[in-house]
Amino acid sequence: MIEVYLFDCDGVIIDSGEDIADAVNATFEHFGYWPVPFENVMSFIGNGAKMLILRALKYSTKNHFDESKTEKLDEILKFYLEYYYSHAVVKTKLYAGIRELLKTLKEKNKKIGMLTNKPSKIAKLILEHFDVAKYFDFITGPDEITHMKPSPEGLEFTVAKINEKYGTNYTAENVIMIGDSKVDIQAGKAYGCKTVACRGGLGNTEELVKENADLSFSVASEIEKFIDILSMDDEGENSWIKKFAMKNEVPIMQEAGSEFICDYIKKHNIKNILEIGSAIGYSSIKFAKLSNDIKVTTIEIDYERYMAACSNFKDNNLTDRITIFHGDALTYEIPGEFDLIFIDAAKAQYTKFFEKFKNQLTENGVIVSDNLSFHGMVEDLSLTHNYSTIKLVKKIRKYIDFLKNNQEFDTEFFKVGDGVSISKRKKL
Ligand SMILES: C[S@@+](CC[C@H](N)C(=O)[O-])C[C@H]1O[C@@H](n2cnc3c(N)ncnc32)[C@H](O)[C@@H]1O
Repeated sequence: MIEVYLFDCDGVIIDSGEDIADAVNATFEHFGYWPVPFENVMSFIGNGAKMLILRALKYSTKNHFDESKTEKLDEILKFYLEYYYSHAVVKTKLYAGIRELLKTLKEKNKKIGMLTNKPSKIAKLILEHFDVAKYFDFITGPDEITHMKPSPEGLEFTVAKINEKYGTNYTAENVIMIGDSKVDIQAGKAYGCKTVACRGGLGNTEELVKENADLSFSVASEIEKFIDILSMDDEGENSWIKKFAMKNEVPIMQEAGSEFICDYIKKHNIKNILEIGSAIGYSSIKFAKLSNDIKVTTIEIDYERYMAACSNFKDNNLTDRITIFHGDALTYEIPGEFDLIFIDAAKAQYTKFFEKFKNQLTENGVIVSDNLSFHGMVEDLSLTHNYSTIKLVKKIRKYIDFLKNNQEFDTEFFKVGDGVSISKRKKL
C-alpha cells in the first residue's frame, strides 16, 4: 500500500530547463567559455550541480578543461550556484496538474517528500515561489546526504524524516519514487520501492525507459487517477480495470469528475446515457452500476480498446444494459434518445460531437463535457511549451466559447476533476 510519494524536482515538479541553461551560460560568459546549447545542458542534468558544470565545461572546451584544477571548478560552481539562486524562477514553471496532484495527495493524507540532486535551498525557493512548498513533508537535497541518487541513501533518509515527523513506520513497500531521469528509477529500485518514470521531463527518455520503471507516464500529474488503487492492499471493485488502464496508459476519467457525474445521474434520475469515447469501459461500468434501470450506450473508435471494453462489460454481467459500438462517433449513426450525453473523446472534436448529438437529447436532456481544464492548461497556457498541446488547448478554449455563446443551450462549468460542464437546452 503506497503512503509516501517521493518526487524528483526538475523535470517532474518544475519545468526548470531554461533557467538552468541560462544560468550555465551566464556563468560561462562570465568566465569566458563558449556557450552550451540548451539540449546539451539538458543532457547534463541529473547528477547534481557540480556534475552539470563539469560536463558543460568539458563540452564547451571540447574536453580541454582540466578536471584536476579543482579550485577553478569550485570557483565556477560557486558563481553558477549564486547566479542560479538569484535567477531561479525567471522562466521556470510548475508542470501542469502538479498543484492539483499535490493537493489531492494531501487530502488523501498521503505523505510527500522531495529527493533532488539540486541544492535544496534552490528547490525550496522555487517551490515557495509557486506556493507548493507547503505540500512537502520533507525536501532532501545533496547537502543533507553523503551519496546522491542513484544511491538509495536519499530515499532512506527522506522516509526516516517522514517517519520521525508522523511517528509512522513506513518502509520501502509504502513508498513510490517518481522521476524523469534514470538515476531516480535506479535509486528507487536500489531502495526497493515502486517507481514511476515521467517521460515528458528533462531527463534522457531513452535511458529512462531502459530502467523499466513499474509505471510510466508522460507527466507526473497522471498519477492522480491511480492514487486509490496504489493505496489498495487487495483488489477493490473494478480496480483491475484501472490497473490495466494504468499499465497500458488508457485514458480514463479522474475520480472527482466521475463522482460528480455519478451524483448528477442519481440526483436527476437519469436512465439513458450516451457516452462518446468508451476507452476500456471504466466509466460506462461505473454509470451502469449506479442502478439496475440505467442503460448506457457507448462508442469507441479504437478496436483494441473496444474489444477490451466488450470483455469488461461481459465480466461485469452488464451486456444487457451497456451497448457498445465500434466506430467514429462523428460518422456513426447511433440510434435512440438520451437523458445524458457524455462527451469524453477527442478534445479537438468536441464542438462537432455537440452539434451532431444535441438532437438526440430527451426534452430535459443534458450534455456533459469532460477535460475542459486540461490539467490547468486551459486557464494557463504557459504551463506547456509543446506545440500540439498548445493547439489542442486552444481548441478546448474555442469549445468553451462555443458553449458560453450558444443560443440554444445554457452551460454551467464546474471546477471538479479535470473540469466538467453541463449544458441544458434553454427554456423558451
Ligand atoms: C478519455 S478516453 C475515454 C475514457 C472513458 N470515458 C473512461 O473514463 O473510462 C477517450 C476515448 O475516446 C476515443 N475516441 C476518440 N475519438 C473518437 C471518435 N471520434 N469516436 C469514438 N471514440 C473516439 C479514444 O480512442 C479514447 O479511448
